[in-house]
Amino acid sequence: MDKIDSSISVISDCTYPTPLKFAGRDSTAAIRYRRDSDRIHIFPCSRGGEEHATAPTFERAGPREFITGDPSRMTAAILTCGGLCPGLNDVIRGLVMSLSHHYGVKKILGVRYGYAGLVPNGHSPLELTPENVDDIHRDGGTILGTSRGRQDVPASVQTLLDWKVNLLFIIGGDGTQRGALELAEEFKRLDAPVAVIGIPKTIDNDIMWVDQSFGFDTAVQIAARVVNDAHVEAKSAERCIGVVKVMGRDSGFIASNAALASLEANVVLIPEVPFSLHETDGLLDFLEQRIRENDHAVIVVAEGAGQEHFGKNSDAAITDASGNKQHQDIGDLLCEKIQQHFELKQHPVNIKYLDPSYSVRSASASSTDRIYCTRLAHSAVHAAMAGKTGMMVSRWSGCFAHIPLGMVTRGRRKIDPTGSLWRTVLEATGQPCLSNGAHPAQQPHS
Ligand code: F6P
Repeated sequence: MDKIDSSISVISDCTYPTPLKFAGRDSTAAIRYRRDSDRIHIFPCSRGGEEHATAPTFERAGPREFITGDPSRMTAAILTCGGLCPGLNDVIRGLVMSLSHHYGVKKILGVRYGYAGLVPNGHSPLELTPENVDDIHRDGGTILGTSRGRQDVPASVQTLLDWKVNLLFIIGGDGTQRGALELAEEFKRLDAPVAVIGIPKTIDNDIMWVDQSFGFDTAVQIAARVVNDAHVEAKSAERCIGVVKVMGRDSGFIASNAALASLEANVVLIPEVPFSLHETDGLLDFLEQRIRENDHAVIVVAEGAGQEHFGKNSDAAITDASGNKQHQDIGDLLCEKIQQHFELKQHPVNIKYLDPSYSVRSASASSTDRIYCTRLAHSAVHAAMAGKTGMMVSRWSGCFAHIPLGMVTRGRRKIDPTGSLWRTVLEATGQPCLSNGAHPAQQPHS
């Protein structure tokens, strides 16, 4: 593995005493300042001694005793990019409250429609205040609006400099964080001291170096309820199969966790694990056996699963504005293939197809996510005040930490088909290996 550089860049020295009132100046105080030397291990260490002491670490998040300058003279900007996710408004609220109440920042701009609001002819920004964000957490979505896609970096930087922004908070997925890194680099090239802080947002839970992304808890709760609904439907009709399609472009976290949270799914299909349809011991064989023995079945499928069943021509890369490959509709395909299969056997089945994708994404945050969003937002503000830049705040191994954007943009998080989450899914559903024994995920189940 390449040597890990987890160092965080800073825009200037910190010599200005923080205006924070609740933190103490020594270790006996109830709330301590963090130092950059407070670290967490990137990988869980199994051995102690020298190996433990030299293992790579992340800087811990939290308030610093000295910051870059007088916050009352600073201007902050906040923007949200990409698809919706429960908790976006909570993060915006947390940023505004911390900037204003904790540090005394007087001017906070809400950029409209993501990066599109930074280029000429974009919408004018909204002025955000504790008063106008006070109750936004009750609603899903983002009060700022969002969009996909990159915009011209020098033009965006010029807009932010014209607005006299010193602190920039960018909430979005891995593509958005790549954009944040480009902005941070351009500010550096121009020698402009602007702190650029990323906040990871993904309903798919697929950003690197994040324990679990905000909104995911909410997503699983809602999706699990729909899996229960599908089960009720499937059990209430003769020879009935409930199919639930959830989001998950390249990662099957929502599908797997919703199945585990409901405990009503018999099959989970995810992008990380290919499956056979018609072959012996493939999905259709399994469904036949399940209907014969139990008269009903529930399938949870992630949108990116089974793309291998669409044929070679469909491989032509159609991408969305964020550059993500757009997948074919596996939910529709499954329903069609299942229907055809049982009709050919002259013993048709009933199919109930439920697609809660956008309902999951547009919900307001659960209590767990709400707490998480506020803590992430406050960590982001503390980092910006300490002049950190080109970094993302995250919760890693249960601790809030600073992750360099260069590390975040190197890949996407996926379910390990040989790991314990997928094993638990197989154990809990009782689903067999559906890929002709070719896949390492095959496990004996009881
Ligand atoms: O943001 C991730 C995601 O929710 C994916 O799961 C999904 O493929 C995609 O966004 C769909 O978003 P939209 O319909 O807004 O382009």
